[in-house]
Amino acid sequence: MSYLSLDTSLTKTFFTQKEWANVEKEVLKAREVLESRKGLGNDFLGWLDLPITYDSREVARIKQAAGRICEHSQVLLAVGIGGSYLGARSCVELFKPYFGNHGCEVIFVGNHISGSYMAELLNYIKDKDYSINVISKSGTTTEPAIAFRILEEALIEKYGKEEAKHRIFATTDKARGALKTLADTEGYETFVVPDDVGGRFSVLTPVGLLPIAASGVDIDLILEGAKEAYLEFSSNKTIQNNIAMEYALVRNLLYRNGRKLEILVNYEPRLAYFAEWWKQLFGESEGKDHKGIWPASANFTTDLHSLGQMIQEGERSMFETVIEVEHVKKDVEIKANANNLDGLNFLAGKTMNQVNHVATLGTRIAHYDGGVPNILIKLDEITPKSYGYLVYFFEYACAISAYTLGVNPFNQPGVEAYKKNMFALLGKPGYEDLKAELEKKLK
Ligand code: PA5
Repeated sequence: MSYLSLDTSLTKTFFTQKEWANVEKEVLKAREVLESRKGLGNDFLGWLDLPITYDSREVARIKQAAGRICEHSQVLLAVGIGGSYLGARSCVELFKPYFGNHGCEVIFVGNHISGSYMAELLNYIKDKDYSINVISKSGTTTEPAIAFRILEEALIEKYGKEEAKHRIFATTDKARGALKTLADTEGYETFVVPDDVGGRFSVLTPVGLLPIAASGVDIDLILEGAKEAYLEFSSNKTIQNNIAMEYALVRNLLYRNGRKLEILVNYEPRLAYFAEWWKQLFGESEGKDHKGIWPASANFTTDLHSLGQMIQEGERSMFETVIEVEHVKKDVEIKANANNLDGLNFLAGKTMNQVNHVATLGTRIAHYDGGVPNILIKLDEITPKSYGYLVYFFEYACAISAYTLGVNPFNQPGVEAYKKNMFALLGKPGYEDLKAELEKKLK
């Protein structure tokens, strides 16, 4: 079964058939490059067949660890940043109730350097039982390393060294890095980030799966959904029967015709962090060689009251990709009111979700009429399987799109620049020359 459909009909007036045919050839080639594993960055293709090659013993160990965490902890602190953070958060936020939690409460930390957040967190957890999952492929990233140093100390102070061993889990490289050394030295249980899977493609590895499992979501179902997407996209070679290729094709066509910015739109607030994951996936994969579509996101109808004007009438350099959820589980009916002072009786008998669907349709047409191409991704419903399918859909589309753009989808050389400056300004040994250079610039 397919969990989503793609509708690109509201983009077709923004390019010609000839342009479509030209880029179609490039997309077909890009898919060949991806599947033949001969393209740029081909040592990072572990995600491609992960839905059928994942280590089932590791997954079983993840479920056991998640079970133990939830048995003796109210809170799991998931410490990580970028690809070691956003995948797990996209899923945890998608399935957790809007109010309260099922499973244990997962709190994300180490994804910024805010001292006030850390101070308030320490206060929040001090009387709670908690465990820590520190996640870093390199094992050396500054933000999670600082957070972990502080939280490990607090946890040891609360429970003692022996019990800390049962409450700290490290997800990192199988052999290298400071975190691996630390975990081995202290006797913490470790989970492996496969060598050939980059951060932003790692949500279906222990990086994402352990916090997700601890939050109470069935990770077997997620992997099943991803496997269905894998089987579909790896066997269907034409644009007509491969929606991941069609999405890659349309966004490249729009980009070439001046659309430099893509807004991923949702109408369900629980999808907001999915958009954050998507932004990293496409931004870090495509933003190279001074090329790439800027991945933005918006939460509707909320942002129609802030960004709506810009989308309707601002500079015509954007297109929208709307994720619409067809069947939303919970709903509330709007009732008739005898006085009708608010004038809303024309909605009586309709549910809020029905109104939301009409808002989606009306907005899509309005923005299209205002000159904004509109791609629609219709998700049947939000389930662990459809989440797994959607993740793989975007990963596959992203790789093809980046190859079509002519960049290496799997590296991120640009993220080093800020780190070097930060280390130099903080006086890290080995960065003395850069420190002097920066200080001269600042004068
Ligand atoms: O996608 C990426 O590679 C990055 O976003 C990394 O995930 C991020 O920088 C964190 O790196 P690490 O897992 O090594 O701490």
